[in-house]
Amino acid sequence: MKRPSTIAPAKGKLAVLLPGLGAVATTFIAGVALARRNLGTPVGSLTQMGTIRLGKRTEKRTPKIADFVPLAGLGDLCFGGWDIFEDDAYASAVHAHVLRAEHLEAVKTELSAIQPMKAVFYPEFVKRLHGTHTKRAPSKADMVNQLRADIRAFIQKNGCNRAVAVWCGSTEIYTEANEVHATASSFEKGLLASDPSITNSQMYAWALLKERVPFANGSPNLAVDFPAACELAREFRVPVAGKDFKTGQTLMKTIVAPGLKSRMLGIRGWYSTNILGNRDGEVLDDPESFRTKEVSKLSVLDTILERELYPKLYGDLVHKVRIDYYPPRGDDKEGWDNIDLFGWLDYPMQMKINFLCRDSILAAPIVLDLVLFLDLAQRAGLHGIQEWLSFYFKSPMHAPQINAEHDLFIQQKKLKNTLRWMMNEEPLTHLGNEYYQ
Ligand SMILES: NC(=O)c1ccc[n+]([C@@H]2O[C@H](COP(=O)([O-])OP(=O)(O)OC[C@H]3O[C@@H](n4cnc5c(N)ncnc54)[C@H](O)[C@@H]3O)[C@@H](O)[C@H]2O)c1
Repeated sequence: MKRPSTIAPAKGKLAVLLPGLGAVATTFIAGVALARRNLGTPVGSLTQMGTIRLGKRTEKRTPKIADFVPLAGLGDLCFGGWDIFEDDAYASAVHAHVLRAEHLEAVKTELSAIQPMKAVFYPEFVKRLHGTHTKRAPSKADMVNQLRADIRAFIQKNGCNRAVAVWCGSTEIYTEANEVHATASSFEKGLLASDPSITNSQMYAWALLKERVPFANGSPNLAVDFPAACELAREFRVPVAGKDFKTGQTLMKTIVAPGLKSRMLGIRGWYSTNILGNRDGEVLDDPESFRTKEVSKLSVLDTILERELYPKLYGDLVHKVRIDYYPPRGDDKEGWDNIDLFGWLDYPMQMKINFLCRDSILAAPIVLDLVLFLDLAQRAGLHGIQEWLSFYFKSPMHAPQINAEHDLFIQQKKLKNTLRWMMNEEPLTHLGNEYYQ
């Protein structure tokens, strides 16, 4: 891809469109509203807290990322979304039980003003939820047209000059791409015929791409990572990214596994289990939705450890992932990992990780960064799969001829080097031999 010659400035209001106004979406919106008023700190967000080193270490140039690349300001974000329940963002946030009352009350007026638009919802894709705030239409093509009308109306009504979308809706049942998903024209025909393999999230993604709105997929569903959507994204010059926010246990896995592998320590088994009790956990209690999540979570270790290159160290690895819906915990997820590893002369060792995390608190800053970076990408003329945003995902989208990159630290380097490349700065190699000549 060509280096952008210019990046359009981040002028005017940016519509942030969120299919799914549940725990993650409302925690994100409330956090931005609090940060705007200096009532909270956007911890976990690279765009708000991060810095970037430029040039040699002796130059001591380390600006904040927000001062280096032209990002939209928090004050310019204007939130909207769709949900199958009528609750406004305040009511939904109260229901989600993530943020404390003192936080929610401080931004109640802003949150209450965000009323979800009616959702596109064919219930066979999310079997545990029964919402009624839904659209009616004779075909899936008409559903897409209604979503496109929503997008245009939202942008116009709120005086925005551009938009970005992040799927924060529920995890759908496991599906695979078929011939309908092969080309843009076969997908259009499938929409007209209401093909049963076209899912809710695919209809949102299609409508957003057609409106040239950059789209990121926070769930593990097949929403945009199929050939027809990638073709549309390239043709309409829209950036896309996905999938499945990398938050609790998988975040830890992609920190620990590259570390063990870098020291050539062997791993025989990795058993991961979680309990969580939020609505996401309830949806994942359905085996068909869990299957989608499981596939996304399992892919990580295989690519990091490269069993084919290191059969002695990782050839026999057994990797298991479990999630149990346990209502008393709400959004406060607890994850346990048992790692059976081995060292010098095959001597066995064990490592246990017990991460008491908060799902939506870890996901909210990811949504913010994706919004700001995807908007930047579009203003810089980048389009199609944005692999440099792999940093944020459990199952990063990638070109068909290569593997996904899961190692968090390689992902971070890729992200920062892409920012340097966009701004005509030298990428960092970390070679460093120039200091010793
Ligand atoms: N929180 C995390 O750490 C994390 C990590 C990775 C992925 N995710 C994914 O992010 C998504 C959101 O998580 P959450 O905790 O906010 O879940 P949630 O259940 O609180 O919110 C999801 C919302 O989507 C709505 N919804 C479902 N289908 C819809 C449709 N077709 N159109 C519009 N709205 C629809 C639901 O009514 C619900 O309000 C889930 O797919 C989850 O798997 C979350």
